[in-house]
Amino acid sequence: MNITILGTGSVGQALAKKLLTLDNNITIGTRDVEATLTKTELDGFGNPPISKMLTENPKIQLRSFKDSVAGADLVILAVSGRVAIDVLASSGELPAGMTIIDTTNPLDFSNGFPPSLFTESTTSLAEQIQEKFPHLNIVKCFNTMSNAIMINPQILDESSNIFVAGNDEKSRDLVKSLIFEMGWSVGEIVDLGDITAARGLEMIMPLWLRIFQSRGDANFNFKIAE
Ligand SMILES: NC(=O)c1ccc[n+]([C@@H]2O[C@H](COP(=O)([O-])OP(=O)(O)OC[C@H]3O[C@@H](n4cnc5c(N)ncnc54)[C@H](OP(=O)(O)O)[C@@H]3O)[C@@H](O)[C@H]2O)c1
Repeated sequence: MNITILGTGSVGQALAKKLLTLDNNITIGTRDVEATLTKTELDGFGNPPISKMLTENPKIQLRSFKDSVAGADLVILAVSGRVAIDVLASSGELPAGMTIIDTTNPLDFSNGFPPSLFTESTTSLAEQIQEKFPHLNIVKCFNTMSNAIMINPQILDESSNIFVAGNDEKSRDLVKSLIFEMGWSVGEIVDLGDITAARGLEMIMPLWLRIFQSRGDANFNFKIAE
């Protein structure tokens, strides 16, 4: 597939590298291509700038948000939650029915770390995105774990779960087949149904952050014990 990833952070970089190994054509979107390529500093979590990853993976294209979606079969939204709607709005025209994977979390860092959520419990960022773009099929996925586990669930000692939520069944199926190819087994993939399930997937973030603080690392994931 031609996959466009909107976002140059650690999620965008991790998904790009993994999906490239699965023979997809990858384009990454950013605000300003030149400015992004000249960044040399590590991000707030010590991750290297995208220029290093692009040098190591020359088949991955970097384009402006607007230009990056041309010819895409699938778009992955991987930007700061605060700007998720604006970034999707600033991207080029997307055809009706296109699947958009939403990896974002509605994190509010205005009072420092750990962040709170900027959404109310009766909605979710994914639902707000879906409402804003009713012609697109938003599928929430990946937001409940670190990017290292998204692309390599086997780094954990035992199996864990990945969740999928979205209104369109075919789009959920597309995402489920993609994550299966990425290494998630059928039993680990949990289809939660329509996009309102994103409320719980986003509201679990305060718990994830507290576990992260308590452990001091992000090498864990949620698992449904039966
Ligand atoms: N980090 C993780 O492991 C992880 C795990 C699960 C979910 N998530 C969620 O996934 C999303 C991506 O996380 P991340 O850590 O990879 O990256 P991030 O630092 O949250 O976001 C980086 C991206 O946001 C864009 N951005 C920032 N401010 C902007 C603005 N004012 N206008 C337009 N674009 C702006 C940046 O654009 P430029 O390219 O132009 O700089 C960049 O592409 C977030 O919503 C995060 O909560 C992260």
